[in-house]
Amino acid sequence: MTSIADPLSFPHGPDWANRLALAPLTNTQSHIDGTLSDDERAWLVARGRGGFGLVMTCAAYVAPAGQAWPGQLGIASDDQLPGLTRLASELAATGTRSAVQLHHGGRRAAPALSGRANQCPWDEPSKDAVAMSTGEVEEMIADFVAAAVRAERAGFHGVQLHGAHGYLLGQFLDGRHNHRTDGYGGSFDHRIRVVLEVLEGVREATGPDFQLGLRLTPEGSGITLDEGRETARQVLASGTLDYLDMSLWDVFMKPRGGADGLLIEHFTDLPRHGARLGVAGKVLSAADAAWCLEQGADIVSVGVAAILHHDFAARAVADPGFVVRERPVSRDDLHAEHVGPAFVDYLAAGWDDLVV
Ligand SMILES: Cc1cc2nc3c(=O)[nH]c(=O)nc-3n(C[C@H](O)[C@H](O)[C@H](O)COP(=O)(O)O)c2cc1C
Repeated sequence: MTSIADPLSFPHGPDWANRLALAPLTNTQSHIDGTLSDDERAWLVARGRGGFGLVMTCAAYVAPAGQAWPGQLGIASDDQLPGLTRLASELAATGTRSAVQLHHGGRRAAPALSGRANQCPWDEPSKDAVAMSTGEVEEMIADFVAAAVRAERAGFHGVQLHGAHGYLLGQFLDGRHNHRTDGYGGSFDHRIRVVLEVLEGVREATGPDFQLGLRLTPEGSGITLDEGRETARQVLASGTLDYLDMSLWDVFMKPRGGADGLLIEHFTDLPRHGARLGVAGKVLSAADAAWCLEQGADIVSVGVAAILHHDFAARAVADPGFVVRERPVSRDDLHAEHVGPAFVDYLAAGWDDLVV
């Protein structure tokens, strides 16, 4: 039986020491120009020291029009490279592997921050969003590829494309709204095209040792479970991916639309073609993580548990009985776990029951 302590190999890039990954966590600690702050570096490097097989950054915007939050990390310009380079090198020194999550907010970006209208596959005036021209779609694909190349130059082991949670890549997958007629909307084959072209573009532009992941939403945001599964099936078969990270929000949940079984089971049975399958959502103990592997996942991505304990991974690997501390926790407890003041404010404002 596979254990969370077991190392993991991939089609490209280095092995991970274990099966536990730091989930991408927006922490609003970057400088106003998207460059990395000391607090954000300390947060991430502590998770590297804390034993995670992979440390992933928060969603980082690949183009100014994609910025969705104040304090969001950017990977849209070479001016952002020095901070990223220092982060990659300090993470590598801890022995962990590292990745940047590449993100574009699309209709959920923030015009007040970016100074630009929101970009979207369709027109949506209530979101200040204007349908992208075909040329703008091609530019956006190029922005994702350029950001991946920047991550490679900075020294990261890889990137993960943020195709989940209804942001721009996910908006292209949305069957309710994406009725474009230029080959990037309408039929399923046309809606998945942007994701496949970004994957191919990144694979071609980066070296053979660069690790490429993709995060997807299984259902919701205009994606039916059948289409979520078909998207997963096609990207796993594409030959470009090292890992697919399914953002389940709750690994134990049933499908919302009434399909049989557990949601996780609709993805663990797909052929992987050498790529690895990750899952995320409400893993709060070593036993929860082990259960995900028993279901057939290769990787367990951990968010809240890694906020509560910078060394959740080391503790879970060492002790099969390890369970996270009671919540809510105090600001002082979070500061002791290298969660900076801006991140604590963000958690206190938006995530129930975490901060006293
Ligand atoms: C504070 C916070 C910030 C998050 N930011 C991101 C993000 O930048 N990108 C992303 O794909 N998911 C993001 N998520 C979702 C997490 O990566 C994760 O999938 C989710 O929290 C479920 O896992 P957990 O229960 O272990 O936290 C965020 C979650 C939290 C709590």
